[in-house]
Amino acid sequence: MQVAIDGPASAGKSTVAKIIAQKLNFIYIDTGAMYRACTVIARDNKLDYGDEAAILAAIDRVGIELRSVNGEQKVYAGNKDISLAIRTPTISANVSQVSALAGIRTKMVSLQRQMAGKVDVIMDGRDIGTTVLPNAEVKIFLVASPRSRAERRLHDFQERGIKSTKTVAEIEHDIAERDYKDSHRKVSPLKKAPDAVEIDTTTMSIDQVVSAILAEIKKSQKKL
Ligand code: DC
Repeated sequence: MQVAIDGPASAGKSTVAKIIAQKLNFIYIDTGAMYRACTVIARDNKLDYGDEAAILAAIDRVGIELRSVNGEQKVYAGNKDISLAIRTPTISANVSQVSALAGIRTKMVSLQRQMAGKVDVIMDGRDIGTTVLPNAEVKIFLVASPRSRAERRLHDFQERGIKSTKTVAEIEHDIAERDYKDSHRKVSPLKKAPDAVEIDTTTMSIDQVVSAILAEIKKSQKKL
């Protein structure tokens, strides 16, 4: 079975996808982490974030891999664990530019389809239901108000012991800017698939979102 979860930044996609993967023993694939890894490789090789050919060549040289280490998903560039590096503000600020490059998307989509293979998979991103897994049995589009997404992000930082230098309003502004770029790029923009179920998580707890998605999965299993 394939479950696709799409939606804007910080709507809670990865949090709920990880929980569901564990509950159902599915493989979880965080496609945003892959575009972030491309951005880290561009930065580490001192490449312009718009230089598609050079970034592609560097990705081919280094290689991107998602590995499961003690039940945790880690991101590797070659043999280097870049799981923390992909989450820094510089990478968040530049990932939209790198992920808008057509050649980068073609490469990542092909990798993502290979990873999905024939296993039960839950994949989150922006174009999973529309492009990567158009035949996914379950498609979810998670949304939440920009303010609540900014508040969650700030809470995330606090939980991880990271001191944010930005206010909620500034984080909200950054999120809105990234959403705009992700929704207006030429190739595979962030868009709800016509057959996706939209869930607004603004006032929902994590448990409630997980239950709502599990109910959709159950519904589709009954149909199989
Ligand atoms: O989910 P995230 O915030 O970690 O994703 C980082 C960026 O990667 C996001 O701003 C847009 C891009 N992305 C994409 O274009 N397609 C995907 N399937 C996943 C992420």
